Amino acid sequence: MNPTGDSAAPESGDPQAGRAGAPDDIAPAPAEIRVRPGEPLAGELEIGGAKNSVLKLLAATTLAEGLSTLRRVPRIADVTTMIELLQSFGCGAWFSDDDVLHVEVPERLEPHASYDLVSRMRASIAVLGPLLARCGEAMVALPGGDDFGSRPIDMHLSALERLGVDIDVSHGYVHARASVLKGEEVSLAWPSVGATENIMMAATAAEGRTVIHNAAREPEIADLAAFLNRMGAEVLGAGSPTITINGGGPLAPVDHTPVPDRIETAVFLAAVGIAGGEITLRGAQPGHLRMLCDKLGEMNLRTSTIKGGLWAMAPQRLRATEIVTLPYPGVATDYQPLLVAMLSLAEGVGLVTENVFANRFRYVGELVRMGADIRVEGRCAIVRGRERLSGAPVRATDIRAGAALVVAGLGAEGETIVRDTHHISRGHEDLVGKLQSLGADVAWVPAG
Ligand code: EPU
Repeated sequence: MNPTGDSAAPESGDPQAGRAGAPDDIAPAPAEIRVRPGEPLAGELEIGGAKNSVLKLLAATTLAEGLSTLRRVPRIADVTTMIELLQSFGCGAWFSDDDVLHVEVPERLEPHASYDLVSRMRASIAVLGPLLARCGEAMVALPGGDDFGSRPIDMHLSALERLGVDIDVSHGYVHARASVLKGEEVSLAWPSVGATENIMMAATAAEGRTVIHNAAREPEIADLAAFLNRMGAEVLGAGSPTITINGGGPLAPVDHTPVPDRIETAVFLAAVGIAGGEITLRGAQPGHLRMLCDKLGEMNLRTSTIKGGLWAMAPQRLRATEIVTLPYPGVATDYQPLLVAMLSLAEGVGLVTENVFANRFRYVGELVRMGADIRVEGRCAIVRGRERLSGAPVRATDIRAGAALVVAGLGAEGETIVRDTHHISRGHEDLVGKLQSLGADVAWVPAG
């Protein structure tokens, strides 16, 4: 089945990400990102923990009373939102170091996720499974649609119903209740990341064995399984299409370092592909990026596994190729805007097919404002590469599209000003500072 519907403002330093984890701080002034083309990139930087792992691990901390610790946590706005959500349940959460986050989970939780918080971040739905496991009930606002489609949660809910959860959806909330969770066989119509995670977390408290068929296989799923197993759960097969959870055992708080962010890694690979040069990404996990690196190889970008990271070198000019997004281990949909930005400057005609989300080409109009030659037809984008783009004011439409517009600016004559940067700060830690460390001409500037 295809789920897409066919069946504040200093010159440097992220004014928003720097505030993550400090909800009491005054909101930063809006700022824009200015990008100019420059010298080829050179140098190395450290890749942070994966946003899409950290958010679910934070939700999973609520499964056990006591103090859990997460390391390598990126200072991004979505982490702040998840912290606020945990605080609204009655948890304490604080950073003890730049990237070390502690969560103190009380004996009793208030299992209510408000619309105010859930509407800021769809990933909030990840609290549904753990709250049910811990409290036997949960009231979680429906996340609604977003910038790339309606994004239903039907698979989350029907799987939880199979585990014995009574679900009532009314007045914009999911009201879920289970006197006893029971292990069951669950088959997903599509390997949904979020549904797999919610079922895994709920099933840790279920009596007996839960088997998830057609489970998502993303590295973040294996990371969540490792976290749960460290807590004392028994989760087998994560990373394969069949995950078994033997539930019911007691869980204890843990100390865990999440997997590195493969999407952040892709941002810098795209940046070097567009600006030229040679970079090293320390802490990157090449094993999680195989399919992407193969595609980049077809585009003539060289990558190589080195001790503790990934090295990359750009060709004189990228070459066009065909790209099809798919669930892991396929080329991730989150790389898609970055790849389209690269193809906009590559030699030849690229074809990109988006299979995961119904409407993930909204940002294309912004690239076209920068002179890109892209035609979108349904789920496909035909990209005719140009030698140069032309700097322009553009708007970030979502987290990944925002990062793609910034790196596209490295290949555009003149100045590109990226607006609506709150999207970028939701998911990319210090993007500007990290690009500057590679020699890119990028800066925060006050909103015009
Ligand atoms: N879907 C349904 N019903 C469901 C669940 C999903 O129809 O009950 C559909 C979705 O509408 C979509 C497809 O299935 O078309 C895949 O959705 P999935 O559930 O796998 O995605 P997700 O869990 O909502 C996570 C990431 C996304 C990433 C996708 C795909 C987080 C917080 N989000 O979303 O990341 O694109 O998996 O890999 O983990 C991002 O980080 O910017 C981002 C959007």
